[in-house]
Amino acid sequence: EMQEREIIKKANKYAANFFRYVLMNTETGKSGRKYLADRKIDKQTMADFFIGYAPDNWTGLSDFLKKKGFTEELLVKAGLSNRRKYREGVYDRFRGRVIFPIYNQRGEVIGFGGRLLEESEKQPKYLNSPETPVFNKRLSLYGLNLAFKTIRKENHALVMEGYTDVITAHQFGVNTAVASLGTSLTEEQAKLIRNNASKAYIAFDADAAGETATLRGLEILQSKGLDVLICQLPESYDPDEYLKNYGLENFQKKILDTALPLTEYQIRQAAKNKNLSTIEGKKQYVTEIIPIISKIDNAVEREEYLNQVSEQLGISQEALNSELMKYFRKNY
Ligand code: CTP
Ligand code: MN
Ligand code: MN
Ligand code: MN
Ligand code: MN
Repeated sequence: EMQEREIIKKANKYAANFFRYVLMNTETGKSGRKYLADRKIDKQTMADFFIGYAPDNWTGLSDFLKKKGFTEELLVKAGLSNRRKYREGVYDRFRGRVIFPIYNQRGEVIGFGGRLLEESEKQPKYLNSPETPVFNKRLSLYGLNLAFKTIRKENHALVMEGYTDVITAHQFGVNTAVASLGTSLTEEQAKLIRNNASKAYIAFDADAAGETATLRGLEILQSKGLDVLICQLPESYDPDEYLKNYGLENFQKKILDTALPLTEYQIRQAAKNKNLSTIEGKKQYVTEIIPIISKIDNAVEREEYLNQVSEQLGISQEALNSELMKYFRKNY
């Protein structure tokens, strides 16, 4: 007998084909086609990512999959259908949304993300598959199935937040892009990257949420042995918007080539919102950056950072060094 996980993946594959067919070949799919055209996602990219559309009705997909022999119980387990509350039967989870199938590295469909065509106050912009026997958000990186070969070849991954960031990146030929799907990076995702490369560029949204996610994810990547480089986008941009507004050459030269190594990024972040001309400001700053500098293994690199900070604050290197030693004695 077929394993349940295998049956769920099979149902997912049928569902992806159903959404794809609706998008490309039906009148119902027209609004989805228009949405994607407005966002300048071209036909080839739509095919590469197998983008689809979930019709805005209650049982289109559930009926289709039941006819293929899947039980209601399985459809609910797969996160494709929801059980009705007040009577028998199930209804479709994804309705009236552009659908982005989520694949594992082996190219199997493990879940879906669905985007509303217009912002709404009643519903979330994105609806994702729930956790299922085959879909665990912590273990997934959107786009890895398409990106992993290039990630290996170039020895780096480019980690973004969202579906459309990755889709646009690939459309522009930036084929190392993957997404953590909104959450801050997990240890498992870091391992997935480390299996394929030794460097990770982070290009999260330049907004408050993105910054929080960036700061939390970084340490995890570093702790898995990755060299981490932080891309800095102009305020309020995400990679999708940046590429569409400024193009590939600017993205390469102004964003990727100027990405900051983790330590430098963290030290700059610590300097933000502090008055470094006051004693209090200097003290706070040094207290925040000493733990960062203590993590640097290489003595030359460590000394170089101490040098820079010493000049920046007008404080002797001896003073900084004595704070660093104090920190080492307490924590190691
Ligand atoms: N996300 C989610 N549910 C939400 C909002 C966001 O799962 N309600 C996840 C999605 O994976 C999304 C990512 O977080 O792609 C980043 O969120 P956001 O920046 O708000 O969306 P974008 O990816 O920029 O999407 P779009 O460009 O379509 O607005
Ligand atoms: Mn490349
Ligand atoms: Mn955002
Ligand atoms: Mn966006
Ligand atoms: Mn975004």
